[in-house]
Amino acid sequence: MNIATTLDRYVNDPAEGTIRLHGPEGFAGMRRAGELAARVLDMLTPYVVPDAVTADLDQMTYDFVRANGAVSATIFYRGYSHSLCISVNHVVCHGIPSARKLKDGDIVNIDVTVVVDGWHGDTSRMFLVGDVALKARKLVEVTHECLHLGIAAARPGATLGDVGHAIQSHAEKHRMSVVRDFCGHGLGRVFHDAPNVVHLGRPGRGVVLQPGMFFTIEPMINLGRPDVKLLDDGWTAVTRDRSLSAQFEHSIGITETGNEIFTGSPLGYSAPPYGI
Ligand code: MF3
Ligand code: CO
Ligand code: CO
Repeated sequence: MNIATTLDRYVNDPAEGTIRLHGPEGFAGMRRAGELAARVLDMLTPYVVPDAVTADLDQMTYDFVRANGAVSATIFYRGYSHSLCISVNHVVCHGIPSARKLKDGDIVNIDVTVVVDGWHGDTSRMFLVGDVALKARKLVEVTHECLHLGIAAARPGATLGDVGHAIQSHAEKHRMSVVRDFCGHGLGRVFHDAPNVVHLGRPGRGVVLQPGMFFTIEPMINLGRPDVKLLDDGWTAVTRDRSLSAQFEHSIGITETGNEIFTGSPLGYSAPPYGI
């Protein structure tokens, strides 16, 4: 397909650079990529249990993505070599699958990005392993609310500052903190594109949203301080104070009237418990 047929227009934002505005073919492509990414998380759900080995979840994903004629966006991405990021407890994001076993009480983010016919579907959810403490469950619940409040604010004429503000004000109301060091991103035929979708902000500030913009919203919320540090593996980001961190992510497109979530779960799994 000629890329020009899918890119009707673009916006040159002084701060964010060139933001593409996609047409119907882009929406169709993102629906297929987003659905497969969501199906990966649906497929994994019954296996996210005590004693599960995180590398095994990664291998299952590799096989599932291949069997569906797609590829993982994260294998060979800047030297990364896995299909998933699996971030447990105080790991904020980009946890690397390994021989590690999940244990009772863990909270786990699983993040997957697939490429279907050149389009990227990027999504993550939290999972509760066995019996999880009330405070940790509250963090997961508030983080899920933050994602959906951010999505609800994303419509034509609103700004990315409105989205960030919706997320930040909810997290801080619950005396939780928003991670500053990682943000959502434009995506489409490119994995990480303009604009940066910061999960904090002031109403009315930043990029004005327009129909055809595609981006992720993926707030990382901590029980303690917002500060993170990178481990020596160069990927794993953890909270500096070792407090618990949670994250949910959807890929969305701005429509004429609001937005479309490309990565909704076909099985209706939105936030845990997933009822299986
Ligand atoms: N899926 C992540 C995101 O939401 C990016 C992971 S990049 C990796 O943007 F290399 F760490 F996998
Ligand atoms: Co993302
Ligand atoms: Co992701």
